[in-house]
Amino acid sequence: MDRLLVTGGTRLSGSVRIAGAKNSALKLLAASLLASGRSAIHNVPRIQDCLTMSEVLEHLGAEVRWYDDTVEVDATDVRSVEAPYELVSRMRASILVLGPLLARFGRARVAMPGGCNIGSRKIDLHIRGLERMGATFVSAHGFLEAAASGLRGAVISLDFPSVGATENVMMAAVSARGTTVIENAAREPELVDLADFLIGRGARIDGVGTPTIEIEGTDGFTPVEHTVIPDRIEAGTFAIAACATGGRVVLEGARGDHLDLVLSKLAELGADVIVTEGGIAVGLDGRARAVDFVTLPYPGFPTDLQPQMMALLSTADGTSIVTENVFESRFMFVDELNRMGADIRTEGHHAVIRGVPRLSSAPVRALDIRAGAAMVIAALAADGVTEIEDMYHVDRGYQDLEAKLTALGARVRRERERTPALS
Ligand code: UD1
Repeated sequence: MDRLLVTGGTRLSGSVRIAGAKNSALKLLAASLLASGRSAIHNVPRIQDCLTMSEVLEHLGAEVRWYDDTVEVDATDVRSVEAPYELVSRMRASILVLGPLLARFGRARVAMPGGCNIGSRKIDLHIRGLERMGATFVSAHGFLEAAASGLRGAVISLDFPSVGATENVMMAAVSARGTTVIENAAREPELVDLADFLIGRGARIDGVGTPTIEIEGTDGFTPVEHTVIPDRIEAGTFAIAACATGGRVVLEGARGDHLDLVLSKLAELGADVIVTEGGIAVGLDGRARAVDFVTLPYPGFPTDLQPQMMALLSTADGTSIVTENVFESRFMFVDELNRMGADIRTEGHHAVIRGVPRLSSAPVRALDIRAGAAMVIAALAADGVTEIEDMYHVDRGYQDLEAKLTALGARVRRERERTPALS
């Protein structure tokens, strides 16, 4: 249970290299299960979630080797089809092995993920999509057991453009008999990266990045080498942190086209944003202006940057209104921000933020990955030393956070909880 001690008041300044996208790498690792052979995935962030997905693959029988930021997965000897509770409860994205396992073995047994800190997060759309393709599901003893004697193509219309459901269905459909059409599909850049990886392995996929994806089943999969896209959420987090401290950073390798709406919101609140081929430069002189925004599936404003943006708007000039449309309970961290002197009221999925001139340090907790990132941003902008507990949440999603912040001039120090000595 590590805690981070952040001394606020320093402007972030300098360059930071953006890591590979967590939400892409996790799916590529899962997709490696689709067929035997060795795939090499480059630019994988060495963060806890990717290590957990490696453990899931190894538990299933795959061989996983890390060389710096390259992960080689040899899925030839996969024998088990079961993702155990211990791993799924640590990371919900473990359920993404469902599609590939069903496609390859006609069977999968995946522990039910249960609730998490940002809402109930159902998996009904994953199940309904796979059922349309001929899979049957039984839920018993905390496990979801899926079986299919040959998946077949189908037209699947999602009630909501769920990222995970689109991915699970897409990974199952690449080896189904016939053509699958996913309507109202998610369009996130990480999903496009997954499709590129699958196409590299021999899959036939059309329309990815649009609301209608068409997939023609095939069985000729080959190993592939693939480089993960940069993490737009990590890039957005550093951009927002720079603005919150009145600083200026260069996000090396970040892609402006993946952050269109975020960058235009930052410009609206007064930031100066320059997008080049090699990255993005973001800076803000003085105090941010209040802005309103709503979270929506891509290309809307990402829910994964909502908490960080709320931390920035806490000290903006004026009142901002934020509407969260993707997750039902993603304002729980607001109480933590208010403990640092923010003035935020929530009502259902709306939040009203009255900007205060300055936040003040306080002991706070990271409630999940992005809420934790928001606390770090608030702490960087606050008076005094803020202690952030439960940093393990943040470690799930950010590689070398302290080193990167320190290189940008921040004063941060990690304290590791010591096990009391036995007397
Ligand atoms: C992914 C990302 C997460 C991001 C989210 C939305 C990964 C590992 N995680 O999560 O960081 O915040 O996209 O951009 O990539 N829903 C249902 N039924 C379902 C599936 C989803 O009701 O079967 C609901 C969820 O409860 C949630 C909303 O749909 O309210 C969005 O979920 P989804 O897009 O599936 O997010 P994830 O894939 O879980």
